Amino acid sequence: MGGGGARPLLAAVLVAAAMVAPARGRFVVEKSSVRVLAPEHIRGHHDAAIGNFGVPDYGGTLTGVVLYPDKKATGCAEFPDRFRSKSGRPVVLLLDRGECYFALKSWNAQQAGAAAVLIADTVDEQLLTMDTPEASPDTRYLDKLNIPSALVNRAFGESLKRMADKADAEGEVVVKLDWRESMPHPDERVEYELWTNSNDECGPRCDEQAAFVKSFRGHAQILERGGYARFTPHYITWYCPEAFRLTRQCQSQCINHGRYCAPDPEEDFGEGYEGKQVVVENLRQLCVHRVANESGRPWAWWDFAMDYKLRCSMKEKKYSKACAEEVVASLGLPLDKVLACMGDPDADADNAVLSKEQEDQIGRGSRGDVTILPTLVINDVQYRGKLERTAVLKAICAGFKEGTEPQVCLSHDMETNECLHRNGGCWRDEATNATACRDTYRGRVCECPVVNGVRYDGDGYTHCKAVGPGRCALNHGGCWAETKGERTFSACSDTALSGCRCPPGFQGDGHKCEDMDECREKLACTCPDCRCKNTWGSYECGCRGNQVYIRGEDVCVANSMSRFGWLVAVLAVSCAAGLGVAGFVFYKYRLRSYMDSEIMAIMSQYMPLDSQNNEHQPLRQHAPDA
Ligand SMILES: *[C@@H]1O[C@H](CO)[C@@H](O)[C@H](O)[C@H]1NC(C)=O
Ligand SMILES: *[C@@H]1O[C@H](CO)[C@@H](O)[C@H](O)[C@H]1NC(C)=O
Repeated sequence: MGGGGARPLLAAVLVAAAMVAPARGRFVVEKSSVRVLAPEHIRGHHDAAIGNFGVPDYGGTLTGVVLYPDKKATGCAEFPDRFRSKSGRPVVLLLDRGECYFALKSWNAQQAGAAAVLIADTVDEQLLTMDTPEASPDTRYLDKLNIPSALVNRAFGESLKRMADKADAEGEVVVKLDWRESMPHPDERVEYELWTNSNDECGPRCDEQAAFVKSFRGHAQILERGGYARFTPHYITWYCPEAFRLTRQCQSQCINHGRYCAPDPEEDFGEGYEGKQVVVENLRQLCVHRVANESGRPWAWWDFAMDYKLRCSMKEKKYSKACAEEVVASLGLPLDKVLACMGDPDADADNAVLSKEQEDQIGRGSRGDVTILPTLVINDVQYRGKLERTAVLKAICAGFKEGTEPQVCLSHDMETNECLHRNGGCWRDEATNATACRDTYRGRVCECPVVNGVRYDGDGYTHCKAVGPGRCALNHGGCWAETKGERTFSACSDTALSGCRCPPGFQGDGHKCEDMDECREKLACTCPDCRCKNTWGSYECGCRGNQVYIRGEDVCVANSMSRFGWLVAVLAVSCAAGLGVAGFVFYKYRLRSYMDSEIMAIMSQYMPLDSQNNEHQPLRQHAPDA
């Protein structure tokens, strides 16, 4: 990125090279991080600069094994064999910088089965962004390049190479590439902007933008209609320095007296379209967005941009005001408002809309200057990677606070298929195929699932357990269960919402239960006459002789009485009755004699005891029995 003014400068000499506008050089290198997980002694964290091609895994991570090729380590030629790691983990191929395009190295690596590429710088310097080569027939692979690439500095590259060479002796070199912090995700709405140009004759770069607008339009409109995202289109604008304003070049390429310019599409001032027409069209498209936004449907810009490219192409010589106004009308946008917004291009005055564009072009905060065209800025960081529907949607989706992403982010073509490989390292129940692996655009997530309405609980990696109602219907809630013959016992009980408990007759922790030997443990059938026999899950108890076992009481009782028994019983009853009668008689006798003696004692106080005539004497109420 060359030097230059804060505002892109358009002078005749620059015109040929001006599609990438010169900027002051506050170019921000967007980074991801590489964390070395193994071997132990080089564990640590390093920065890597995300390449501007392929598909960076925004919002996600990738863990893989570093391999460094023995030969052809620059990766400029096709590799003869596919790379494979011993552990079966994805391969992160380490290559040397130099000799060919960065993107070509990545393409050769992708062809050889690499999941990601790290390119080691060969000089000690700051990290830089590896850019896409100019598209040409030799770079058709760019479209098919879909693995992420990153540049690492020389020192880190060297230590990775040394470790990879020794890998056999010390185990594999495992790294985790992490793009989770590459995209800020502060809230529930993503702001993004595309810096583009209405010119459609700049070759493959213009074709790429046109194809992107066409294919991303659907997603963009879903995101914006749902209130999930706010999109703003931007157009790069050049200017003419004062001294050149009256030159033919500036007059044909600029409006508002040299204030706002665009390079001549054909780079030939005498022929075809002039830069001036491109600036006016850019201005119109900005105004279309403003007017559409004011009328509550900002997404109409996508329709306009696509329709304009289809209906009013430069190649077909239809790039004109009349054609543009037809498109405005067909989308039902008020033309008068669009014209009012555009103002007078011939006036020697500032244009509010274009001045704002020139200001916005200069870097602010984390974003850096816009110097590459097209540039996509998401949540104020410049997107790196190819301008392609799925890759961009993935980056935008990574800009949502986790859990707030709209449905479009969770669709099928956004998945990374990490669950297909060893179930993503997540928990799985072999018996029911219930799995905790969920594939998302952020990479796989290990989360205990809900299967047929039954919720699982756990860490998602090593264990998940069904909890809540209905859990026993699913593989006995993960608890112990066993069937022998007709009988099944389970340690799962729907009356308990979680946990496993061995059923009665078994002992264990609920995950393993063993039959209890009630006989040996002396838990039942313990009476002297009892005969105990253990069974699976229970016991049988018999009694000696003619007795029966009463389970509730755990006793044996005789089931019929003998003759001797009857005799004893009769005797016993007779005895009891006899004793009762005798007692009563004795008592009565005692009472009588007591009363007699008492009466006599009283009477003796009044008369001689030998006199038996006691008719006239009152009796004193002094008896124990009235
Ligand atoms: C679009 O409209 C919203 C409010 O409706 C406003 O906040 C926003 O700045 C507008 N965007 C542009 C580019 O005018
Ligand atoms: C689990 O999946 C395997 C293979 O996909 C299949 O063969 C098996 O029948 C499945 N088991 C159940 C219980 O669905």
